[in-house]
Amino acid sequence: MTSPKLRLGVNIDHIATVRNARGGEHPDPVAGAFAAIQAGADGITAHLREDRRHIRDDDMERLQMLCEAEDIPLNMEIAAVDDMVEIAKRIKPHAICLVPERREERTTEGGLDVAGLHNTITPIIRELSDNGSRVSLFIEADESQIRAAAASGAPVIEIHTGAYAHALDAGDEDTAAKILKAMQDGAKLGQELGLEVHAGHGITFDNVGEIAAIPELMELNIGHYIIGEAIFMGLEDAISEMRKCMDDARDTSQ
Ligand code: PXP
Repeated sequence: MTSPKLRLGVNIDHIATVRNARGGEHPDPVAGAFAAIQAGADGITAHLREDRRHIRDDDMERLQMLCEAEDIPLNMEIAAVDDMVEIAKRIKPHAICLVPERREERTTEGGLDVAGLHNTITPIIRELSDNGSRVSLFIEADESQIRAAAASGAPVIEIHTGAYAHALDAGDEDTAAKILKAMQDGAKLGQELGLEVHAGHGITFDNVGEIAAIPELMELNIGHYIIGEAIFMGLEDAISEMRKCMDDARDTSQ
C-alpha cells in the first residue's frame, strides 16, 4: 500500500516567544510563517493561548491573511472555551485544533478528554464546523478517546506524540515501544472510523522516523524543535531536514 504524502505543518509559536522576551516586534512570527511556507511547509500552525504567552490576537489575524494569500492552510489551536471559540469564529482559519490548556503548564500536556467532555465539546465542534473551519481534536492514542472523537462529529484527530518523545528522551525504550504501538493502533482505528489522523508534539529529527512511518497519518505538526534548530541551521534548512526525515521514513516503510 502506498501512503499519501505526509504533510508538514510548522508551528511558529516560539518565534513569538522570542519576540515577547523583549516586548517588541522582532522576530515577527508572521514573517517566520512566510519563510516556513517558502521553505516548503504544507501548513502553518499557531496556538492562541488564553494567557497570550506567545501568539497574540493580531498575529492570528495576520497569519490568516498570509495563509489565505499564499493558499496554505492555517491550523489554529485553541482551548475549548467560549472566548477562544468566538475569536476563532471571527478569524475563520482553515482548521481549528481543540487542545486542553492549563495556565501553569509549560506546553500542552496530555490530550483532550473527549470522552469525558462529550456534552460540552460536541456543540463547539458543530459551531466551528458550521462557521467553515475543519475541527480536529488533540487526543492521546487511547481507544476510548478515539471512539469518542469519532462520535463527536469532528473530522480530524491529532494524536499526542509527547509521551513517546519523553520516553525516548528518558531512555525508556519499553515505554516508548508501548506508546508507539498504541499510536500505530490508534491511527489505524481512527482511519477505520472515518477520521483523518494527524500527530504532533515533541517531534525531533531523531524521533520522527517511527511516527512518520505510521501509514495512516496525514499530517505532522512540529514547532519547538524546528524553531530551535533554526537557530543553528536556519529555518529553511531545519524545515528541509525535517521534510527529508519524514519522506525517508515513509519510503522505507513501504
Ligand atoms: N500539536 C499540538 C496540538 C500542540 O499543542 C503543539 C504545541 O503547541 C504541537 C503540535 C507542536 O509541538 P512542539 O512544539 O513540541 O513541536
